[in-house]
Amino acid sequence: MLTLVKAGLNMNKLDFPADFLWGTATASYQVEGAAYEGGRGECIWDTFSRRPGAVYAGENGNVACDQYHRYVEDAEIMSELGFKSYRFSIAWPRIFPSGTGNVNKEGIEYYRNLCKELKKRGIQTCATLYHWDLPQALEDAGGWANRSIVDAFRNYAKTCYKELGDLIDMWITINEPFCVAYLGYLFGVHAPGIKDQDKALAAVHHVNMAHGVAVQEYRASGLKAPIGITWNPSTPRPATKSEADKKAADIARAFYTEVFIFPCLGKGYPELVTKDLGLKLPVKDGDMEIIAQPIDFLGVNYYSESPAFADNNAPYKFSFKSFWQEATAMGWPYTPYGLKRQLKWIAEISKGAFNADKEIPIYITENGCACEDVVADGRVHDSQRVKYLQQHLAICADIIKEGVPLKGYFVWSLLDNFEWAFGYTKRFGIIHVDFKTLKRTIKDSAYFLRDVITGFGEW
Ligand code: NOJ
Repeated sequence: MLTLVKAGLNMNKLDFPADFLWGTATASYQVEGAAYEGGRGECIWDTFSRRPGAVYAGENGNVACDQYHRYVEDAEIMSELGFKSYRFSIAWPRIFPSGTGNVNKEGIEYYRNLCKELKKRGIQTCATLYHWDLPQALEDAGGWANRSIVDAFRNYAKTCYKELGDLIDMWITINEPFCVAYLGYLFGVHAPGIKDQDKALAAVHHVNMAHGVAVQEYRASGLKAPIGITWNPSTPRPATKSEADKKAADIARAFYTEVFIFPCLGKGYPELVTKDLGLKLPVKDGDMEIIAQPIDFLGVNYYSESPAFADNNAPYKFSFKSFWQEATAMGWPYTPYGLKRQLKWIAEISKGAFNADKEIPIYITENGCACEDVVADGRVHDSQRVKYLQQHLAICADIIKEGVPLKGYFVWSLLDNFEWAFGYTKRFGIIHVDFKTLKRTIKDSAYFLRDVITGFGEW
């Protein structure tokens, strides 16, 4: 970022390389709707949202943003705003309604049509294979806690490559393994709503394995578009200068983050987890080699950073302290500088992985914030989000100049959507959605991003 001080004019300008990939992101369960159309099977979020008290006001993704029927309109809006890529996820239960078995051709058709509409407008396609909508039939067989899921995922991934490979420009195996394993099986706040440490640790390992086998299948398919994974690294800073808090922050990062990143980079499971916390993962001979497949890029979702402190009463010896920063509607602090620390750390730990002679490209596959947005006279003046984006993009521009191989940025999210256990109460979109009429209204933040993409990101 440049700060221009000229003749009393104090101005900031965001500068990015010409080939920087600007995208928006969504996920199938959060936007598609049409839950019982097109031959789709039930997923764990359909069932979880029926559990009393699991999701705010019993809301669910049955209709969501109805993107299943409105993808042409959505592609048109992205094109008007100048985005170069759309990150969406493929709903496993649309491809295999019961997780395995016969392919549902209607599901394939839907994603082929979506891709064609995007490509017609010069928008690249970035497909995530798994963004949390596990077919319920697989959960009934033990879900991510059962090792057999690895083979089911291999088969699903292989099918997606075969049926959609000619239309996808970038593949992501799994979105946020942390949420799959811990929110789903340890804290129980996401589907399938289980609180069981052994199952959660099994899920950690199986999610990592699923990523590995999906990359193996991809290489075997002969497809050439880049493939990677998306993590949501938690890289807390220590709350004080004490050794104890420093160690707590390290343990938090190891338990929340390194258990997912390290194995994929060929570094094994971190000792802070296996020795200091004494946790056991169900590793069999040869597993670690399967997980550590060379990948073409690293995807990072970043929202905020917290201060960690040593807490002997906490199950994993750390907790998080209060912060002073302004918070988003999620209650998450604005901590743009944490993004810098995090990206530097990722660049550092991934150096030399897979014996690559070059640094591995990094993409921010999600960044954004929830705000209390309202439509007035056909406009949404989401100045809080504009500020959030300005600050985080300023960090991105700076870090590229410092040599971190950041190659693209996907804002979360294209649309206000189903924010998991919070239902429709948290609006992350750069496009407002009226959930009664499904009308889309472009927010100021979307126009701001349009200008940044065009090269006029100044204020
Ligand atoms: C990360 C998840 O991938 C996405 O599904 C979610 O909506 C955002 N974070 C915001 O919480």
